[in-house]
Amino acid sequence: MYAITELTQKINTAVENIQYHTEPKNLYDPIRYILSIGGKRVRPLLMLMGYNLYKEDVETVMNNALALETYHNFTLLHDDLMDQSDVRRGHPTVHKKWDENTAILSGDTMLIMAYQLFNKGMKNDEALIAFIDATQGVVEGQQYDMDFETRNDVTEAEYMEMIRMKTSLLLGYALKIGAILGGGDQEDVNHLYTFGEKMGLAFQLQDDLLDVYGDPTQFQKKLGGDIVENKKTFLLINAYQRADEAQKAELDRWVNAETFEPAEKIATVTNIYNLLGIDQLAQQKIEELFAESLKSLDQVKVPEEKKTQLRLFANKLMGRKY
Ligand code: IPE
Ligand code: IPE
Ligand code: MG
Ligand code: MG
Ligand code: MG
Repeated sequence: MYAITELTQKINTAVENIQYHTEPKNLYDPIRYILSIGGKRVRPLLMLMGYNLYKEDVETVMNNALALETYHNFTLLHDDLMDQSDVRRGHPTVHKKWDENTAILSGDTMLIMAYQLFNKGMKNDEALIAFIDATQGVVEGQQYDMDFETRNDVTEAEYMEMIRMKTSLLLGYALKIGAILGGGDQEDVNHLYTFGEKMGLAFQLQDDLLDVYGDPTQFQKKLGGDIVENKKTFLLINAYQRADEAQKAELDRWVNAETFEPAEKIATVTNIYNLLGIDQLAQQKIEELFAESLKSLDQVKVPEEKKTQLRLFANKLMGRKY
């Protein structure tokens, strides 16, 4: 049974040892760059921990885990382009450091590499189908995220479904794939999936909360990006629900503004969130979802001591600052 730190170390070493074609340099350098500047490695960790509930030889499935991390990093390259984000993991995003076409093509390449890596890993049809389903679902979720930017009637339920797709799927499937490869039975596989799915919802809510309230010295992304881009987050949707007429009008003014000073928009909308207690509301929801996720972990039929790393990991994520 491996500790989280040991698995992280193994993942980082394996990431460094990924083999690339040498040319074109401008296609592969950004991939090495994004994979080397940090990242919590949540998805490969969950996959390996899922596997490690049943088996010890985690190296056997390392390529499957690398496939998940490579896929996730593909989504980040395109996501940063779509969200016009300049900073990722405390460094310039690929489309800023290189250019937009590079972010598109290096992203495309990572998507292909992800399937190559999965194919180099442990062979299992059920796991492969799970990987394909997850990767398709995430992109569908990303499309909803983009569609919602220009809609002003997005409900909380629609938001929850969108984040389930863009974020939770990959966390749930990471655990599911790990458990399938480890030989867990169908019931365990399903409970682990639900554990990851619920944790993923909390994780994205946290991401949205940190985007407004994160500590700028720790967050590693630019604060306020979601407000600038009119993202229909839990925060904005609930602010509209709770706002009085004057606050609604103020929110409308900023959401509909074509030209504005980003810092001013961020400050005004954040102030409305503060007045309405939206941060506490989000924090409460995050805690509920985390607590719910752990109930699914409880039901997995492996000895309790085998689950300690996953419990630790979930708790660590709950207190995350970036
Ligand atoms: C960022 O994912 C995108 C979301 C789904 C919120 P992470 O927060 O896992 O990013 P890294 O990989 O640790 O940088
Ligand atoms: C991104 O959500 C989810 C995926 C990359 C699939 P966000 O757009 O909120 O992620 P960050 O905040 O840029 O990391
Ligand atoms: Mg996004
Ligand atoms: Mg983004
Ligand atoms: Mg975000």
